[in-house]
Amino acid sequence: MSLPSPFLATALSHEVCIVTGASGEGICLTIARCLLEHGAVGVVICGRREQVLRQSAASLVAECCPAQPERVAYRVCDVRSPDACHRLVEFTVGKYGRLTTVVNGAAGNFLSTARNLSPNGFKTVMEIDVCGTFNMCHAAFKALSSAASAPGSPMSKIVNISATLQYGATHYQVHASAAKAAIDSMTRTLALEWGAHGIRVNGVAPGPIAGTPGLTKLAGGALDAGALEEMVAEVIPLGRMGEKRDIGTVVVFLCCNGSGSAYVSGETIVCDGGAWLWKPAIVEADMVDAISRTLEKKKSKL
Ligand code: HXC
Repeated sequence: MSLPSPFLATALSHEVCIVTGASGEGICLTIARCLLEHGAVGVVICGRREQVLRQSAASLVAECCPAQPERVAYRVCDVRSPDACHRLVEFTVGKYGRLTTVVNGAAGNFLSTARNLSPNGFKTVMEIDVCGTFNMCHAAFKALSSAASAPGSPMSKIVNISATLQYGATHYQVHASAAKAAIDSMTRTLALEWGAHGIRVNGVAPGPIAGTPGLTKLAGGALDAGALEEMVAEVIPLGRMGEKRDIGTVVVFLCCNGSGSAYVSGETIVCDGGAWLWKPAIVEADMVDAISRTLEKKKSKL
């Protein structure tokens, strides 16, 4: 059960934010919700599916700011397109007068053995995760830096959503592991180059989060969602699956100028209940076995 947020409801009242990959019911829509709950004056969510975005934006307004619907906007944007990222930034600055925060959450993933993964499958995930994160950062640089240079303004922020699967080795994730490792590296390099331009660049690496399409989809029907979550929760040092709000609160911490994060840049905060430190082989083996049987079945149908 989530505890109340330790941050003020006005903590982000300077912030105008873009959150990519926030169309569905994954982590990023909750991140958008947390930004609004802490006073962000504008939050633009983006994704590839207009209808889902429209519904998500409406639910954000209803839950967070029914009297100020103008604080939420949505835009269709495939982050693989640099032009689309530029248009998204232009739209945001046009609507809200500035852009101060970008949360790069757009990602693509599926399970596949390396042997069966096509070069195009690998490339697709790299293009969404790595090129997409770079495209958004690149498109937003000018606006972020200009917002930070206004007198009395705090530094601007980029938060890249990473993962922990690349810290060791994870079955069936050669594409996503490579992509998330590249994102971690990008976080550090951009922090190095853009600190002098008034931009802090950080990341959050979520562990297993309950109720996300990512986890259930990744299981690919090999295990039912409840059984999977139970199995995973048992081996997490903190004894539970993460909640989407666990991640949203870390993002608020990183974006909030008075939270203690004002001197944090180039860091990716792991928020996983200690999960990646402890992956008992027996559970891993059970899961791998169940998933590999499903992948083999799928392959034999092709
Ligand atoms: C093997 C697959 C595949 C699968 C797609 N491909 N799905 N290969 N197994 N299940 C291959 C295709 O065969 C194709 O290669 C290539 O990938 C491109 O597929 P398209 O469907 O044409 O691409 P696109 O429509 O752009 O779809 C992108 C996608 C898709 C990533 C493949 O799954 C998607 O859009 N997903 C929605 C976003 C998403 O997955 N979010 C979850 C994020 S969770 P060929 O050679 O056939 O042309 C996350 C968390 C990470 O990222 C950490 C988890 C622990």
